[in-house]
Amino acid sequence: MKMKVLMVCLGNICRSPLAEGLLKAKVDAKKVTVDSAGTGNYHVGDAPDPRSVAVGKKHGVDITDQLGRQFTKQDFQDFDFIYVMDNSNYRNVIELASSEEEKNKVSLILDKVFPNEEASVPDPYTGGYHGFENVYLMLDEATDIIAEELA
Ligand code: 4NP
Repeated sequence: MKMKVLMVCLGNICRSPLAEGLLKAKVDAKKVTVDSAGTGNYHVGDAPDPRSVAVGKKHGVDITDQLGRQFTKQDFQDFDFIYVMDNSNYRNVIELASSEEEKNKVSLILDKVFPNEEASVPDPYTGGYHGFENVYLMLDEATDIIAEELA
């Protein structure tokens, strides 16, 4: 059975596009579908932030084919695992869930690296390029573990 994984942040232009690109690079596309979305609607239809594109490119991950979209209730039907970047994303996604089963699909992506610590991938949008490097390194570690679990 094909597993479906959704990466979620606020804008779907900085963090979740990198998470999507990283996981896609590490799994068999025939076995795993990976997508991303934002809880907000500010960047629907937008390309990823140029700083996310640059940090991905530096590490050999091309995210230029992605376009921003907003998370919807339908995503609970369409995806098996929903990984969020921070506690605010978690609350916004959980608010749209209509059952325990749907809620159980949602987790903080850094729980994979630091279980039970409620660690967040910090929003890099208003900071400098260094923040995007930091985000990339965190997501690289987390997606290594997710890819291993899915293999
Ligand atoms: P992201 O970063 O959630 O990692 O995509 C953000 C991008 C845009 C905004 C906030 C966060 N914004 O407010 O426009």
